[in-house]
Order: sequence, then C-alpha cells, then structure tokens
Amino acid sequence: MRIVIVPGTNRAGSLSYMLAQVVREQYESLDADTDLLDLKEMDAEFLLPSAYKEPGDRVRGMVKRFMASDGVVFIVPEYNGSYPGVLKLFIDMLPYPDGFDSRPVSFIGLAAGEFQSLRAVEHLQGVTGYRNAFHHPRRTFIGKSYERFDMATGKLKEAELEERLMKQARSFVDFIERIKAD
Ligand SMILES: Cc1cc2nc3c(=O)[nH]c(=O)nc-3n(C[C@H](O)[C@H](O)[C@H](O)COP(=O)(O)O)c2cc1C
Repeated sequence: MRIVIVPGTNRAGSLSYMLAQVVREQYESLDADTDLLDLKEMDAEFLLPSAYKEPGDRVRGMVKRFMASDGVVFIVPEYNGSYPGVLKLFIDMLPYPDGFDSRPVSFIGLAAGEFQSLRAVEHLQGVTGYRNAFHHPRRTFIGKSYERFDMATGKLKEAELEERLMKQARSFVDFIERIKAD
C-alpha cells in the first residue's frame, strides 16, 4: 500500500513538514510504502500560464507521485483561516477527474492558534469532496503548534498526541483496505 503524505505549505521551517515526517514514520511502522510530497519542490513552472494544458517536467513529476498513491494524508496548516494557496495551486494541477475520484484521503489540521485548523481542513474537504474523494472520517486537529515539538529532534512532545495520530494511521490503512476489497 502506498501512502502519499502532503504537508500543505512550501514555507521554509514549516511545522507541517516536521509533523509529516513523524506521520511518515508511523505509516512505515505499519508496513506502508510512503512518499512525502514536499511543496517546496514546486518551482516557477507551476505558475506558467501553460502549466494547466502543457505541464512541464517538474509539474508532471510531482503529479505522477501523487497519482501513484493508494491513499493521501494531508497535513493542513491553517493560514488566514483556511489552507494555503500553494496547496490549492498543486490541486489545480491534478488531472480531472482522476486526481481525487474515489481516492481515499485523510486529514490532520495544524495551527498556531486556538481553532486548530478546523476551518482549513473543512475548506479543503469542500474541494476534495467536490472532486469525489473518499474522506476518511477520523481526523486530528492540533492547535498551539509551536508548543508541540521538541525542536532539536523534530519529535512530538506528547505521547498522547502521537498515539492519537497512530490510531488515525491504523484506521486509515484499514479504511483503504476495505475500499480495495469492495
Ligand atoms: C501566511 C500565514 C498565515 C497564518 N494564519 C494563521 C491563522 O489564520 N490561524 C492560526 O492559528 N495560525 C496561522 N498561521 C500560523 C500557522 O498555523 C502555524 O505556523 C502552524 O505551525 C502551521 O503552519 P506551518 O506548517 O507553516 O508551520 C499562519 C501562518 C502563516 C505563514
């Protein structure tokens, strides 16, 4: 089973990226193959007016990696009460309808503030739902992002949060297996 993990920002020093590495290890411990799609790899090619119809090599390469997933885990940072624009640009490069049609997707929200990225995740679910993705119902919302990590190691400070994420990972693997068996 191939899980693609997408931290939804290209911000240098992003905590979503740090969390994506924790989540990646969890899926690997469940024997999944993983790919971490780093939106920092999105270069000027993504902004070319021709990118939609005639994508360049960089766009095609990243889209191909996304399309190779059996399931996608979005780590969704809250930016201005929503998810980052760079993530929407990436989504707009995905083929229609295959990009999301019947693709299992799972969501983890991460925010500095008290709203724990709930709005950001639900905005993103509005898009992926419109595109007929299969939404994994177990979601995790994390606030106070800057207090959550041991910055030296990149690990989470709280075992309880790590366990909640692990439960989500186990449940998502099970969700994908049930869909495949159907
Ligand atoms: C452009 C921008 C807008 C942001 N807007 C919000 C916000 O509306 N609410 C909030 O709680 N945090 C906001 N944050 C803080 C992020 O939620 C925080 O940095 C968190 O760790 C997830 O983003 P990161 O992966 O970039 O670290 C914002 C950060 C940036 C860079």
